[in-house]
Amino acid sequence: MGWEELEKNCRECKKCALWETRHNVVFGEGVKDAEVMFIGEGPGENEDLQGKPFVGRAGKLLDDMLKIIGLERDKNYYITNIVKCRPPHNRDPLNTEQDACMDWLTEQIALIKPKLIVCLGRIAAKVLIKDNFKITAEHGVWFDRGDAKIMAIYHPAALLRDPGKRPETFCDLKELERAIKETCTHTVLYY
Ligand code: URA
Ligand code: SF4
Repeated sequence: MGWEELEKNCRECKKCALWETRHNVVFGEGVKDAEVMFIGEGPGENEDLQGKPFVGRAGKLLDDMLKIIGLERDKNYYITNIVKCRPPHNRDPLNTEQDACMDWLTEQIALIKPKLIVCLGRIAAKVLIKDNFKITAEHGVWFDRGDAKIMAIYHPAALLRDPGKRPETFCDLKELERAIKETCTHTVLYY
């Protein structure tokens, strides 16, 4: 499946009950041959209304942090979520919803072929790294995932709730920057 067909099919998806309450499917955004990919949990209210990932307060914080290491959404990375439709009242997506939605993400990863994947928060890390992932102990640690390396950082919403976690996240992002310079061949960083 190519991008156009994938996105069209995803926008019409009714594979789990979240379709009933969504305003928009949040497919993903960014550079389609990026070497760096960010994966969050699921759309919140602003994302659901605009149809784009990470556009609310947490998204703004994420954009600001990534800019510090030269990453910009329309220039050098791709960003999406585990589930593409908003869970009501921002509850965690159910396992059944995550499973139903996984094929879309698998196809996206197959098309992008990222070298580095960054999970935003515990939920994405549990799905993509390992079920017993411990975000407090294992954020910033790289794991092998086929041809890619994958790590998790704290979710930007957690950084809004607890600014005390920001210095650790800054270290994790510096590690990401180092790994990009080591591993990526065509990623330009925009400082
Ligand atoms: N939180 C997420 O996990 N994803 C979004 O797109 C927005 C907020
Ligand atoms: Fe389909 Fe995923 Fe939306 Fe569920 S959350 S309806 S599986 S796109």
